Amino acid sequence: MDLTFGGGGHSREVLKKLGKNGRLIVFDQDQDAEANVPDDRRITFVGANFRYLKNYLRYLSIEKVDGILADLGISSHQIDTPKRGFTFQSDTVLDMRMDVRNPVTASRILNEYPVKELTRIFRDYGELGNAASIAAAVDDLRGVRPILTTGTLVEVLRRFIPGKNPSKFMARIYQALRIEVNQEVHALREMLLQTPDWMAAGGRLAVITYHSLEDRLVKNFMRSGNLEGTIQKDFFGKVLTPWRPVNRNVITPSPEEVRDNKRARSAKLRIAERVNGNRKEEHRI
Ligand SMILES: C[S@@+](CC[C@H](N)C(=O)[O-])C[C@H]1O[C@@H](n2cnc3c(N)ncnc32)[C@H](O)[C@@H]1O
Repeated sequence: MDLTFGGGGHSREVLKKLGKNGRLIVFDQDQDAEANVPDDRRITFVGANFRYLKNYLRYLSIEKVDGILADLGISSHQIDTPKRGFTFQSDTVLDMRMDVRNPVTASRILNEYPVKELTRIFRDYGELGNAASIAAAVDDLRGVRPILTTGTLVEVLRRFIPGKNPSKFMARIYQALRIEVNQEVHALREMLLQTPDWMAAGGRLAVITYHSLEDRLVKNFMRSGNLEGTIQKDFFGKVLTPWRPVNRNVITPSPEEVRDNKRARSAKLRIAERVNGNRKEEHRI
């Protein structure tokens, strides 16, 4: 399964290695992604959020899969299409929805969320130290007029934008809003927790993250089978987890890869293999 099909780059590589009777199930909640699906009878596109993984596997009458890959975040297509509102490089609408059926846009969050919630978003998802002051400034402006475009947002934030590296600051604001709009952390948590039940013994889970909060969840989950990272042991002291980490350390891009693809610079890849455990027993502990 490729849970984040996007432009289909990873899927095309998987197809090259897949036998003629193999099957590749791909997900993307962005309906635009379907246009990239190659004409290949082995591939099935699901235009939905991967948090509904088990519903679709049941629907497709699939009992187990041999591999699950997720490359989180947004695609180059989304960043490079200004009207989708993922970029602050052009003065455009504050949308940021990966799934345009979702009623919550970034401007709705900015105009309607309580200040406390805005502070949480800027602090936890944007990793911004002055989150409360930024939220207060948003609240001041929206009392005067609605915040609908990048231009208006930059106007509110101008006094917080550091002289050094202004893009980094705006990228964090955008990242925070985008994660909230798409409920990215919630979807990741739900998806991860479903994977052990559907993975065949020896099957691999590979996740690429771009944010420390997401990486922490993946890391915890791959070492312990739960999102808190709590190691559970049986009566004999044997660690109970559905996963065996495949790499000792997290995999990050080489300097050459970052040179060729700047967007890969904060990527972290973790891989784990499903051990042949009895999931029911693991659940009981
Ligand atoms: C980083 S891109 C993937 C790029 C892809 N690996 C490629 O080779 O082109 C992430 C994609 O996953 C999709 N996506 C992100 N979160 C998702 C979710 N919870 N459910 C379904 N699709 C999601 C986005 O819409 C985007 O197209």
